[in-house]
Amino acid sequence: CFASQPSSLVSPNPSYSDEEHADVDWDSLGFGLMPTDYMYITKCCEGQSFGQGQLTRYGNIELSPSAGVLNYGQVCFKLFTSKGLFEGTKAYRKDNGGLLLFRPEQNAIRMQIGAERMCMASPSVDQFVDALKQTVLANKRWVPPPGKGSLYLRPLLLGTGPVLGLAPAPEYTFLIFASPVRNYFKEGSSPLNLYVEENFDRASRLGTGNVKTISNYAPVLRAQMNAKRRGFSDVLYLDSAAKKYLEEVSSCNIFIAKGKCISTPATNGTILSGITRKSVIEIATDHGYKVEERGVDVDELIEADEVFCTGTAVGVAPVGTITYRDTRMEYKTGSGSICQELQNTISGIQTGIIEDKRGWIVEV
Ligand code: COI
Repeated sequence: CFASQPSSLVSPNPSYSDEEHADVDWDSLGFGLMPTDYMYITKCCEGQSFGQGQLTRYGNIELSPSAGVLNYGQVCFKLFTSKGLFEGTKAYRKDNGGLLLFRPEQNAIRMQIGAERMCMASPSVDQFVDALKQTVLANKRWVPPPGKGSLYLRPLLLGTGPVLGLAPAPEYTFLIFASPVRNYFKEGSSPLNLYVEENFDRASRLGTGNVKTISNYAPVLRAQMNAKRRGFSDVLYLDSAAKKYLEEVSSCNIFIAKGKCISTPATNGTILSGITRKSVIEIATDHGYKVEERGVDVDELIEADEVFCTGTAVGVAPVGTITYRDTRMEYKTGSGSICQELQNTISGIQTGIIEDKRGWIVEV
């Protein structure tokens, strides 16, 4: 393994565009990829540590056809041999122009835990956070104006070395690219309509449901497409063993609220430990709600006052209806809802409008 760096590396002190904002119609941003100027990249051999990475112009990367990520990444999704992890985090522009990251060290730690599970090398927390900052600064003009969205950052950890037999890849690549985004769902900030999926499982016990690996995402596409064709926003999974307890939506965690009690599935191995999820739990507890992390029975959806989703991409999103078998349940959303209270608080902290008393915000 030579872990060669790409040939198009930018000089250590590149002069970035000093344009304040890229030429973007910020009001029509959704969650589609909008290529930005630079990406961060570094490689290392198996068993070694990542060296200092560098910025390169955003563009395609060269991969061996036998790269671990291509051969075992999306195929063996129930084995822990797939070689692709990703994270998602966002940079926000404050009213005074400052740029903020939200709990980036949590993404770094989650990538390290995932890498350990998948037998991959991973960057240190400091390197991860520094790489995020470099990527944001290099793409500063793509961070939307306040109130118009955020710069989504996608750190990737890939087994890029060639393999044929099932084995750890001899080389790993850590890469971060960025894209300005706003609402994840086409519903915008309107309530979601979910469908409880019973014909496909998202994760199995002792599998990798709790790891942010690419192999958790390809398998959910079929169910998601079927549901979207029927007019639903997305699907809500049940546990694969008993088909009785709530798991996750394809791209986010789920919460239900009844009175002053909020419940969310416990992270028991099949549930992704979302950073928005854990932040919402902390905020809700501070706001006087009783928050329970436990098995949430699907039948509790009947009695719930509110249901909402959390995730980096999704934010805190209200659920208006859930269809389970032949029953369509409706939930409170909008003004006066718990979802809106939590959403306002977390996005206020993320964008610097509400004082950060927990040390969650990192200035770029
Ligand atoms: C995120 O919320 O950042 C994710 O990685 C989920 C992805 C499906 C967009």
